[in-house]
Amino acid sequence: MTDLRDPRGLRGDAPLLDAWLRFTAQAAAGEFTPMSVPGHKQRRDLTGDVTSGDAPLYGGLDSIKHADALLAGAEQRAAHLWGADWCRFSVAGSTHGNQALALAAGEPGRPIVVTRALHRSLLLGIVLAGLEPVWVLPEVDPASGLPGPVPVAAVRDALARHPDACAVFLGDPSYVGTTGDLAGHAAAAHEAGVPLLVDAAWAAHLGFHPGLPPHALAAGADAMVTSAHKALPAYTQGALVLARTAAGRLDPARLHRAFEATHTTSPAGAIMASIDAARALLARDGRDLCDRLLRTVAAARDRLRQVPGLDVLDGPGVEPAKLVVLLAGTGAHGIAVEADLIAAGMPVEMADRDTIIPIITLADDEATVARFADTLADIVEAHRGPPRRPVPAASWTVIPEMAMPPRQAFFCRNETQPAAKAVGRVSGELVAPYPPGVPVLAPGEVITAAALDALRAARADGGRIAYAADPTLATFQVIARP
Ligand SMILES: Cc1ncc(COP(=O)(O)O)c(C=O)c1O
Repeated sequence: MTDLRDPRGLRGDAPLLDAWLRFTAQAAAGEFTPMSVPGHKQRRDLTGDVTSGDAPLYGGLDSIKHADALLAGAEQRAAHLWGADWCRFSVAGSTHGNQALALAAGEPGRPIVVTRALHRSLLLGIVLAGLEPVWVLPEVDPASGLPGPVPVAAVRDALARHPDACAVFLGDPSYVGTTGDLAGHAAAAHEAGVPLLVDAAWAAHLGFHPGLPPHALAAGADAMVTSAHKALPAYTQGALVLARTAAGRLDPARLHRAFEATHTTSPAGAIMASIDAARALLARDGRDLCDRLLRTVAAARDRLRQVPGLDVLDGPGVEPAKLVVLLAGTGAHGIAVEADLIAAGMPVEMADRDTIIPIITLADDEATVARFADTLADIVEAHRGPPRRPVPAASWTVIPEMAMPPRQAFFCRNETQPAAKAVGRVSGELVAPYPPGVPVLAPGEVITAAALDALRAARADGGRIAYAADPTLATFQVIARP
């Protein structure tokens, strides 16, 4: 008979899931009286159902003394699945994973070759680690205004100019699903004697179907970070950091220290168990589920292309499971389209004036995705206007002028200046339209008129300006003059 709490029967191959199922069953039966955290003590009469299913890893999924061994068993299974020899589960997203890899990569003051289309978490990782970024820029496709890959030649050139670089750290696939030549990047990095680290936050499903590109490790990277909660059916915040250390470019003990440095000491067992369950599902049913995913996305692309003026990102170098909808030819404004999608109960991951990015995963079936595509097509019709040329967003076109390393700037005294007076000064803050969360301004970068205009344009188009002390952009935090 089907176990309703484990309908696909994954627990036999998922030790953390099995432990979570046992713990929560015991708690529901009122069979124990914990004299340990969490403080809700599994009661529902205080804060209600919001804590239902909460179980600490330590002292919940197993005793505080034994949970490490349980966790290690689950992480080893994930390492095996991705062909890694080192793996950790994080309850703090790819944000934490990126920071852990930055802390493992080098020493304060060492250059690191990094894509400027990086997520803000990696930039803060560079601040934490005191590394000095050597930026490499993605190519921007003039037709769509969206970023393509970072050329291998740009990485080779950066490594040649900085022979003391400690690593190459790229984001692949990009936020919009464009993929680069990771094997070429790995070769470039390895010839320079440094590891290739990849933020693959959106790509936990890659490598599990012949129609999908290989995952970063299979392409030759030394380490990758991926969010189990993005592409896989895991709890929000669940992520994996995976590495191949045998070649000696990364030290497992250092990776371990770096990972633990910024991870909570009280990981949520439910998140951990959901990563384990998602891994077990991928291992057993990944090919079939990815098959459906590829079919549904292909069908949605075909459907949307039937709408006059509407296009989708497609072709070589585009992740086939990603649906990126290009609105410019319809004249519809992405923020208005997004509002109607929210009203229809179909919120999307990202919308700006010219682009809509829904996230379609292994959890979506044909009918759901077809309904979404039909709804989107109808909404676009309702907002049709004169076609326009797409304008590349600030996040993809920023050309940084670095006045001081990000870590030095992070700790400098700031002052508040009105926008007009801030131009030409050095930013003390990170400012990123979110999504995609790529900093347009980073600590230590000169606030240029172009950056200010681009941020204002993103805000005027209805974008959220994140992390700025003043999200209205009327003032900026600049480094105080001595
Ligand atoms: C490219 C990239 N890296 C890292 C992250 C951070 O992931 P998480 O939300 O799992 O911390 C994101 C978040 O959207 C992202 O887009």
